[in-house]
Formats: sequence, structure tokens, C-alpha cells
Amino acid sequence: MSVAVTVRVPAKVNVQLAVGAARPDGFHDLANVFLAVGLYDEVTAAPADGLRITAEGEGAGSIPLDATNLAARAATLLAARHGRTPDVHLHLKKDIPVAGGMAGGSADAAGALLACDTLWGTGASRGELLEICAELGSDVPFSLVGGAALGTGRGEVLTPLPVGGAFHWVFAVADGGLSTPAVYAEFDRLTAGTDVPEPAASPAVLAALADGDATALAGALANDLQTAALSLRPALAATLDAGREAGVLAALVSGSGPTTAFLAKDPEAAERVAAALSASGTCRAVRTAVSPAPGATVR
Ligand code: C5P
Repeated sequence: MSVAVTVRVPAKVNVQLAVGAARPDGFHDLANVFLAVGLYDEVTAAPADGLRITAEGEGAGSIPLDATNLAARAATLLAARHGRTPDVHLHLKKDIPVAGGMAGGSADAAGALLACDTLWGTGASRGELLEICAELGSDVPFSLVGGAALGTGRGEVLTPLPVGGAFHWVFAVADGGLSTPAVYAEFDRLTAGTDVPEPAASPAVLAALADGDATALAGALANDLQTAALSLRPALAATLDAGREAGVLAALVSGSGPTTAFLAKDPEAAERVAAALSASGTCRAVRTAVSPAPGATVR
């Protein structure tokens, strides 16, 4: 008799997102330094007749609950590879901002994959799970792995990175989401006719992570999608300013946005910044979280 399996999966922030020119396949080569943060979605897989998805939590109403959901696609891909039908009820308990640039959809896909593998006793190897993750999306392999990693290629080729201490973050959740393809298209528009350098990992970012040095990380953070996200959503500049005025070490757009991320010196500073951002009226919600966080884990 199978019982339900619940998997917890973290959000991510990109402490470096170096973006190259568009490739012939439309994707961009990246040097993407992922850092998992302690905000989690939970994916529960339970036996069912056919494939069914339900969701609860902030923004759950705007998630597609059909076969286009990345979690449903994860279940379908795993089932097809192992000659079975994807008979499963997937329940998504959302805490990661939806369409926020924190890999919430990718987290649900990685969580569904691990939950189904466990529920069905598929016994897929780590390598196979990572291969399926890469097929599902550029950020999905990192959601499975967690911690910190350098993503190259379109972000799916991962090299784990050492992290020497805790980093304290505040996240300002914006009203509505931003479409990742739209932000990359805006990057292409803004860089058209310029020489876009090959993306390369920043030694200063890697050293700051390894040392657990928040001040050094603050000086080295970089997101090549930030200008594009601000171009599509100019109001984010006021959120970044509100965080800066509250005394953060650094402020940046998280991935393709529109969530903004603020690095604080310690937990007390993070609480102060969170209160100031909440009072600023420049964002919809504020969250604090600590990095690094573990990858997808069966509860
Ligand atoms: O891989 P994923 O499905 O998450 O990508 C979503 C979209 O983001 C792609 O269709 C593409 O427009 C853009 N993207 C990109 N280069 C990457 C990753 C994503 O252009 N390395």
C-alpha cells in the first residue's frame, strides 16, 4: 500500500548572473552562481487514478493546474522513461513567490520528480534525475541539488560550490510576476549592436561564498538581467532604493525578477530591513531567509 510522499524544495537567488549573447537555439549561455535560500515549496505525491494537480498558498490561484504545469511534466517524463502511466495526485504547497525570479516553478518540478520517484519506487539514479531536470528547465537541476553551484551552458550544467557561512537575505515580493522569456528578450533588445562578453564566473563571488563573507559578497554581486527587469518594471528601482536606505550590504533583482533581494549583515539587520521595506509601500510582501539551504529533500 503506497502512502503519500512529501518533498521540500528551496528557492534560489542568483548571486552572479552573467548572460552571454543569444545562441542559435534562443537560449543564452550563462555563468550562473545559484545560492539556495531557506524559503520552501512542498510537493506531495499521492496515489491517484490519472494525473491531478492541486495547489495552495500565496499566488496558487495563478498557477496552471493542467499538463502544462512543470510539476506535471516532471511526473509524465519520469513515468514515460519507466514504462508506466503518471497516475499521481500532486499537491503543491507554495511559499516561494510565484513568477518571482526565485525558481518557484523549477522547485515544484524538482520536487515532483523526487516525490514521484520515491512514491513509485522507480529507483532512478541521481544522474537520471538531473537529466530529466535539465529537460524540464534551465534552473530545475539546481532546485534538486541546492546549496550553491555554478551553472554553465544555459544554467543546467552544475558545479557544486563551497559555502563557508550563513548569508542573511530579505526579499521584497512585487505585485505580479515577470515572464522570464520577456526579460531575456529585453536583454537582447538592450544589448543589440553591442559586443556581449562571454559569461564567466567571478572569482570574487566564488571566494566570498567560500569564505562566508557577506561584505565581500555584497561588493561582488552582479545580475546582467537587472537592467532588463528594471526596464520592464521601472517601479522596482524604488524598492531597491528603499532597501538601500534601510542599510543593506547590497540590493539586487533576483534572477529575472521582479522579486528584489537584499543582503544584510546579520539576522538583526535583516529584521530591520524587512520592517523598513514593509513600511515603504514599494512592495507587496517581505520575507527573510537564510542561505545556503539544502536541495530537494523527502520529508
Ligand atoms: O529553461 P527555461 O524553460 O527555464 O527557460 C525559460 C526561458 O528563459 C527560455 O525560453 C528562454 O527564453 C529564457 N532563457 C534563456 N537563456 C537561458 C535560460 C532561459 O534565454 N540560459
